[in-house]
Amino acid sequence: MLARHGLAAIAALATLVAACSSSKTDAPAGPVEPSEVTFGPGFMWGSASAAFQVEKGLPNTDWGIWVKTPGKIKGGDDPDVGGADALAHVDEDIALLRASNQNTYRFSIEWARVYPTRAAFDADQPDANAIAAYEKLFAALRAAKITPFVTLQHFSLPDYLSDPRKPNEPQGWERPETIELFAKWCQRAAARWAGDVDWWATINEPIVSPIAGYIQGNFPPGVVLSVDRALAVGRNEALAHVKCFDAVKAADTKDADGDGKPSMVGIVQHQRAVEPEDPTYADDVAAAERVRYLNNLWVFNAIVHGDWDDDFDGKLDGPKDRKADPALANRSDYLGINYYSALVATVNGIKIPVIDAFIKQDRLLNDRPKTDFHWDIYPKGLRIILDEVKPYKLPIIITENGIADSKDANRTRFLLEHVWELGKAKADGMDIRGYIHWSLLDNFEWASGFCPRFGLHTVDRTTGARVPRASAQAYGRIAASGKITRADVDASPQYAPPTYCE
Ligand code: FCB
Repeated sequence: MLARHGLAAIAALATLVAACSSSKTDAPAGPVEPSEVTFGPGFMWGSASAAFQVEKGLPNTDWGIWVKTPGKIKGGDDPDVGGADALAHVDEDIALLRASNQNTYRFSIEWARVYPTRAAFDADQPDANAIAAYEKLFAALRAAKITPFVTLQHFSLPDYLSDPRKPNEPQGWERPETIELFAKWCQRAAARWAGDVDWWATINEPIVSPIAGYIQGNFPPGVVLSVDRALAVGRNEALAHVKCFDAVKAADTKDADGDGKPSMVGIVQHQRAVEPEDPTYADDVAAAERVRYLNNLWVFNAIVHGDWDDDFDGKLDGPKDRKADPALANRSDYLGINYYSALVATVNGIKIPVIDAFIKQDRLLNDRPKTDFHWDIYPKGLRIILDEVKPYKLPIIITENGIADSKDANRTRFLLEHVWELGKAKADGMDIRGYIHWSLLDNFEWASGFCPRFGLHTVDRTTGARVPRASAQAYGRIAASGKITRADVDASPQYAPPTYCE
């Protein structure tokens, strides 16, 4: 399993001297580059958001409580104050998608907006305003002929299931009832929006929630270094995905896009190119392999192959392990891949139990260019993680890829370089169906508040006005032509130093 958002919390646990590889050595002489890559008609070009990051007024979620808790969010930022308020700007946001020739919008529907209380959930009495707000979004997408790609849970959970004010009690995904209730939520959402949606993502980044919420402690419920609880969360999210998959399949029987399939259901994983800190040191190499397995493969093994590694030891030999369990297998119509950067594993420093390694992602000591969020810019890592998931033999959607870049100095090159790698993988025969950029708009970046700017468009924090960045126009050109040339990539400006948030 991996860490991310603010791995600095763990980094503070140890002082490490790192010896990392350089970007020069990352690029061994390979086959000659093609002169262009093409994606063809029907390729999904989109951008993404998540409800809590762009909506307002979600006090009845664990994140809603978290942001009001002093000291939890950088700068005390709160999406209710100067946030994108997306449900009040539906028409403008759809116009931005259209203006940049995007044909797909990934967003999440907030469970707690639709069912604000446990009583409402139990009685299946959805909130009328919430339904109207999401209906408006679906209607606007229909009118604009933009494909909705809907996430059913993107980090935030209703406060009746996850309350960070009680961190010593089981919360959220730790609670078995969350699995059952989530399956019902999936069933109801899929039944209601079956005619609009074919592409469903069950859970966003099931590896991130346990790491950030139970090891780093910078996501709710804010527990630090409780590996047992983190593992329980990881297991329950995988089980919840399986139940949600079955529920959506049963409920969504309408083919919204006319391709003969009523639904495509998958999970969205945060994949990292995992590297040993010292590639000449066998223990670091082994640590990287282990982190790679936990972060990039454990969940897919469970829901694609039905291989359940209950104790996360990489072997299917424990009393609760299962091989090719039909109750878990084949619950993935596609693989949703979020790719941002690399991750370094080492045995030096304080090892996280079970993971048995020390991992870090921030300010890696190499000479790769960095984002404003300290992450390495590493386009070739995209190919590495794509090759890793080839054996699952499933269609792939890049469900997120993006860069914190407040000045928009590097986003265009970042986009071109990543789409280039994607195009080459497609040309090499991988079944890649779409590229969805994170993010349509500047938004609330969880514990880091509003500082990291991931948007293709800026949002004025006082007026809510959206303004396209130059990169939105560059993306629009890629989406319109469905191709890029090597010359486009080479002609884009070299990376400028980042503007770190602190
Ligand atoms: C991803 C999350 C998304 C956003 C980006 C920057 O891991 O899914 O919500 O925070 O990182």
